[in-house]
Amino acid sequence: MRIGVLTAGGDCPGLNAVIRSVVHRAMTGHGDEVIGFEDGFKGLLDGHFRPLDLNAVSGILARGGTILGSARLERGRLREAAENCAELARRYGIDALIPIGGEGTLTAARLLSDAGMPVVGVPKTIDNDIYSTDRTFGFDTAVTVATEAIDRLKTTAESHQRVMVVEVMGRHAGWIALESGMAGGAHGICLPERPFEVDSLVKMVEARFSRGKKFAVICVAEGAHPAQDSMEYGKGEIDQFGHERFRGIGNVLAAELERRLGKEARPVILGHVQRGGTPTAYDRVLATRFGWHAVEAAHRGEFGRMTALRGTAVEMVPLAEAVTQLKTVPENRMFEAESVF
Ligand code: F6P
Repeated sequence: MRIGVLTAGGDCPGLNAVIRSVVHRAMTGHGDEVIGFEDGFKGLLDGHFRPLDLNAVSGILARGGTILGSARLERGRLREAAENCAELARRYGIDALIPIGGEGTLTAARLLSDAGMPVVGVPKTIDNDIYSTDRTFGFDTAVTVATEAIDRLKTTAESHQRVMVVEVMGRHAGWIALESGMAGGAHGICLPERPFEVDSLVKMVEARFSRGKKFAVICVAEGAHPAQDSMEYGKGEIDQFGHERFRGIGNVLAAELERRLGKEARPVILGHVQRGGTPTAYDRVLATRFGWHAVEAAHRGEFGRMTALRGTAVEMVPLAEAVTQLKTVPENRMFEAESVF
């Protein structure tokens, strides 16, 4: 069998672990040949690919990023890919294509699959917001980075009697804010799923100060926004890929809290530091399992599906189901955290 693999969309720790796993399982388990397309679907369309063998993936398990490069594909080119996919598969002699990516990539994968390309998807995103899988690799690494940041910010906040507002990634789903906020013991957590009341945050900080705790850390997802009339805050902008981008809630909220509380507040925007660097052991294992199962699914001819973690088992689920909606934080998880505003 000839297997093509590509990584598309925003990168994420664990991508290299999937690529390595696909190559290992395909070559040593089945005697397959593997080629890697460069820079996502662009490589498939433009004919940029290279053979991947055991040496090509040696030493990449712990490396962040992706050895294949990644890019987001303009919607027009996606249609082009879908229209030509039978021709593309023939041109490269591909018996199975394994695209590794987030919601956008999986939607593209579904389109290609519907058009006849033999596709097995592998979900990835630090946001953990892909429906149909309990976890995505990259998420554990991002939560670990954000938790360490909160731990560190607490000591400097306490020294200076400040309020720290840590903005973490998560445009539509607040999983990183929820779990790093819980693990780091943030005093306030703000999620995109629930508009927050600034008054409640102000009261919480005042209550802490009046019982002698002279600092506070608030963990806010980049897509979190205040309830109407709670604070001045503009709407998100639609970027060229059609995503709504809320920029700067960390800065805006820190300034507002400083004004209302009369105490120093500092914003800390963690940004892409959450996506870079070496994956945690958990993410390496999940990524490796996904790669293994993707190759096995290809050999069973289970196309149009993606790997998914269900409980502790890796299962194959239809791509069509996975891209119907995003997996956002449910109410019961907010209650458990106690400090979601
Ligand atoms: O989807 C992953 C993610 O890291 C989001 O959390 C974040 O909003 C976005 O990608 C950032 O994208 P870019 O790298 O294009 O700025």
